[in-house]
Amino acid sequence: MAEKHPFIPFHLQTFSEDKMIERSQKMYDLAKSRRSVRDFSDKPFPREILENIVRTAGTAPSGANKQPWTFVIVSDPDLKHKIRTAAESEEKEFYKHKISDEWRQDLAPLGTTWEKAFLEIAPYLIVVFQQKFRLDEHNNKRKNYYVTKSVGIAVGMLIIAIHNAGLATVTHTPISMNFLRDFLGRPKSEKAFVIMPVGYPKEDVSVPDIKRKVLSEIMVWS
Ligand SMILES: Cc1cc2nc3c(=O)[nH]c(=O)nc-3n(C[C@H](O)[C@H](O)[C@H](O)COP(=O)(O)O)c2cc1C
Repeated sequence: MAEKHPFIPFHLQTFSEDKMIERSQKMYDLAKSRRSVRDFSDKPFPREILENIVRTAGTAPSGANKQPWTFVIVSDPDLKHKIRTAAESEEKEFYKHKISDEWRQDLAPLGTTWEKAFLEIAPYLIVVFQQKFRLDEHNNKRKNYYVTKSVGIAVGMLIIAIHNAGLATVTHTPISMNFLRDFLGRPKSEKAFVIMPVGYPKEDVSVPDIKRKVLSEIMVWS
């Protein structure tokens, strides 16, 4: 006979329609004021904020609820230096030899180069790993499902939680991130997904003057 799994009551907090409109507008206002920041201050902030941010990301939905993510927090200056050096070496190779003309043109408005000082200056790096599979208590390989989609959703929630806390980040994806598993002592089952530096922006920071698509370009009623 199939095993019976328990269900528990769920009470969704509901609002009047006016309140719903107001809340959805406020969420949009928060989201639209977010920008990727690439110049950070080294000013510290309480670790508890990071814990709440990661807790928020950890509430993301995931394929079969496998929660296939690990958030590694890096604050040690030597380790950050090591990560910066390795990332810059990958990026130098990319910007000098591997990048296509089209990609170079697409990156031009962002003003990015191989230099990644933010990896050392931001007080914390959150290195997100995806768990391609798991090992159970008997060391047997067990499946995770829709890992990339699940971790992508969790990182989206991480990004908005960072912004909501009044801190900045940028999604950093060095062309190869394989060095991160060794540097951070993660198991073979995990693969680095993104590096998110977290901190206050540098004073008088500026960001590229880029435009977001308007609703009619991204929304289709069918
Ligand atoms: C998957 C992904 C990878 C990205 N990789 C980088 C990166 O390696 N370096 C960087 O400076 N920005 C990176 N970005 C940030 C984008 O350039 C940025 O989100 C985009 O230009 C829009 O700007 P905004 O975040 O300020 O709205 C990445 C963003 C995403 C979603």
